Amino acid sequence: MTAKETPIIEFKGVDLSFGDTHVLDHIDLEIDAGKFYTLLGPSGSGKSTILKLISGQLTADSGDILFEGQRINNMPAEKRRVNTVFQNYALFPNMNVFDNVAFGPKLKGWPKAKIKAQVEHMLDLVKLGAYANREISELSGGQQQRVAIARALANDPEVLLLDEPLSALDYKLRKAMQHELRQIQKELGITFIFITHDQEEALAMSDWIFVMNDGVIQQNGTPEDIYDEPINHFVADFIGESNIIKGIMKSDYVVHFDGKDFENVDAGMRPNERVEVVLRPEDLDLTTVEQGKLVVTIEDQSFRGDFYEIAAIDDDGNHWQIQVTNPGKIGERVGLTFDPEDIHIMRYDESEDDFDARLDSYDDEGDHNAD
Ligand SMILES: Nc1ncnc2c1ncn2[C@@H]1O[C@H](COP(=O)(O)OP(=O)(O)OP(=O)(O)O)[C@@H](O)[C@H]1O
Ligand SMILES: [Mg+2]
Repeated sequence: MTAKETPIIEFKGVDLSFGDTHVLDHIDLEIDAGKFYTLLGPSGSGKSTILKLISGQLTADSGDILFEGQRINNMPAEKRRVNTVFQNYALFPNMNVFDNVAFGPKLKGWPKAKIKAQVEHMLDLVKLGAYANREISELSGGQQQRVAIARALANDPEVLLLDEPLSALDYKLRKAMQHELRQIQKELGITFIFITHDQEEALAMSDWIFVMNDGVIQQNGTPEDIYDEPINHFVADFIGESNIIKGIMKSDYVVHFDGKDFENVDAGMRPNERVEVVLRPEDLDLTTVEQGKLVVTIEDQSFRGDFYEIAAIDDDGNHWQIQVTNPGKIGERVGLTFDPEDIHIMRYDESEDDFDARLDSYDDEGDHNAD
């Protein structure tokens, strides 16, 4: 076994409140050098607050923040080898592109030739090599954001913090910039910590995602981990569209929902543990009523370019979202099929006492409750 390298950034039990509002609740996280990380979560979940603790704009109430193993809770912001790119660019309007990017290196007193080489390198990296003499007011929004990225990178940070840098851009430009940011990160090999509340963007860009809600990291993992195996209702709902149905894990590989038992690929829960079952809309297919694992009635259907989005209801009153390439008809009763490996199981928060009481009630009433 190889020893694990010291993370470049580590939070250990970090808490932060503003007045009575507990904004970060005992945050533990590890960031390894050279990767692309994303903090993903809804507005107010504490994403920017985490970046501000890393950059030194805020100080934790308790807990430790480490940089390469050294505690930096009280290190002044200007001593930290991190830079931030903001959504609103925050460029100097009275300076041209070159001088904006040269700002940090000049402040550090670098020799003129070194500054020039650095600015040219950074402008090439963001594909603005020909724009050095332009005024900021003569640039589009997307170009201004590129200058902001070049300016932050010109300081040679070890970690680049990006607080929703793409939110102000239109869809196409945003897609292009997602790709470019990823390329820049790979080329420089430094650590990026990127904030977004757009789950598609997070899935497309990241090596590793932290999903936040209410000042708590709900789950962290690779995009695949988080999409395929959401750990709780919040994550399943926030990452992509999901059908989430209550069920009972009768035994290993057998889950009960909608009045039936289904074969699946999960194991290791208590017999009869209460669970939530996640089925992604794109993993469902329509078939005949006879061949369906479940039967639903189509309530609504809309064309979405490369698929049809169907809203349906089953006989137990559960609503289903289904994405298919061959449409059905509104009002039609159809069968639903899916594969055992498309059934994702999440633990349901149930106390030991509630669990015991529920199992007792099955004994009293025979098996009908579980059916
Ligand atoms: N200076 C402050 N004073 C008081 N409350 C604050 C302050 N800064 C942030 N908050 C509160 O802390 C919480 C987390 O804020 P934060 O900016 O970290 O959220 P966020 O996840 O970045 O949200 P958004 O996606 O809207 O940017 C919010 O409820 C916010 O109102
Ligand atoms: Mg924010």
